[in-house]
Amino acid sequence: MIKCFAIFKNKFKSKRDVRSAPERRNHQTSGAKRGTRSAGSISSSKSIPEMYREKHHNLRVFSPSELKEATNNFSRLLKIGEGGFGSVYKGRIRPLDGHGDPVIVAIKKLNTQGLQGHKQWVAEVQFLGVLDHPNLVKLIGYCAADGERGIQRLLVYEYMQNKSLEDHLFNRAVPTIPWKSRLQIILGAAQGMEYLHEGLEVQVIYRDFKSSNVLLDKDFHPKLSDFGLAREGPEGNLSHVSTAPVGTYGYAAPEYVETGHLSTKSDVYSFGVVLYELITGRRTIERNLPAMERKLLDWVKQFPPDGRNFSVIIDPRIRNQYSPTAARRIASLADSCLSKNANNRPTMNQVVEILQEVLQDSSQGGTSSGVRIVESSKSDDIIAAEEHLNKMGVRPNTRHIPIAQKS
Ligand SMILES: Nc1ncnc2c1ncn2[C@@H]1O[C@H](COP(=O)(O)OP(=O)(O)OP(=O)(O)O)[C@@H](O)[C@H]1O
Ligand SMILES: [Mg+2]
Repeated sequence: MIKCFAIFKNKFKSKRDVRSAPERRNHQTSGAKRGTRSAGSISSSKSIPEMYREKHHNLRVFSPSELKEATNNFSRLLKIGEGGFGSVYKGRIRPLDGHGDPVIVAIKKLNTQGLQGHKQWVAEVQFLGVLDHPNLVKLIGYCAADGERGIQRLLVYEYMQNKSLEDHLFNRAVPTIPWKSRLQIILGAAQGMEYLHEGLEVQVIYRDFKSSNVLLDKDFHPKLSDFGLAREGPEGNLSHVSTAPVGTYGYAAPEYVETGHLSTKSDVYSFGVVLYELITGRRTIERNLPAMERKLLDWVKQFPPDGRNFSVIIDPRIRNQYSPTAARRIASLADSCLSKNANNRPTMNQVVEILQEVLQDSSQGGTSSGVRIVESSKSDDIIAAEEHLNKMGVRPNTRHIPIAQKS
């Protein structure tokens, strides 16, 4: 896990702003009415908090004791993950109608000492209370209690059996995902983000696209999670909103980090980073590697998609199954997402189209569409790549040391 950063300290509300119900002022760049972006003319449309107020009855409200019981008093044995917000537990809750088998859920518990706080919790509840797409994780409900024991904030999600894309790409203890399935997963993630950018009355900027936030269900169907940093996009014809930069090191767009100008193209940049993680099986920042390889984007620049040595960067675990043509196209797509000038980056709609094309072409090559977890063996390609790495003085088996990124 790579932690979120806050370049300016005023990211969190003070305690006196804390409310037990998920309410938050809508932060807009101007006081003007929100406008739809489609027709050029500005017509008013509802903000996320307004939509939330209309829709939030869809969410269940849990008591602290219900969630304590659901997780066996937050047993360490049921802990399935940990992020900047707090710990995530597997739990069982009663079905809504009280009948039938318990429902397995994931319960995220806010660590009040943590870097992320109430504001993110409110954003998560409001955005996920309103958003609805097959590629976004479902929020089942929440718990908010302010008592003698302090503030308690919890979130209850549908349980995603196969954890995150990050786990499968970088954790050596978890089987990897084959090339074709990687493409299917990233296409689903792209469709989730396309919905945020273009499928709603309001434009939503996700701000935290990274492999650990792409969760996988029992069929490896991808869903975006963590909307604590999401915010509404600019109004009318404005290109960006101005905000204190928050996000995750290694994924945030350079212009956003430098100027605080946030746009949907900032998300597209982060998407480009994940595309390279997918191709290489390396994290955006690998602290245990030699200095020249520590930053993924700097390293891959030496092996451009149209260059002779491109195959050097391919994840050794997929080397006997990937399509070189498809991999080059994905790397070119990643490069365009990573364009320095945000205007030159594609829209998520264009990204989806390209991914669909690449997948279609790969299908004509004919492999099964379901996810098969396989370990690849060495092919000629990998041997050539290893020789190349050796020449550069890099031992191939030093390339994928699992590291706990805690800073
Ligand atoms: N709904 C869920 N179902 C199953 N596992 C989940 C679910 N949500 C989160 N997890 C697991 O918990 C881990 C931690 O998630 P969390 O979102 O708290 O942190 P993160 O995304 O790794 O980091 P950050 O807090 O910086 O965004 C995930 O990587 C995943 O393995
Ligand atoms: Mg997450």
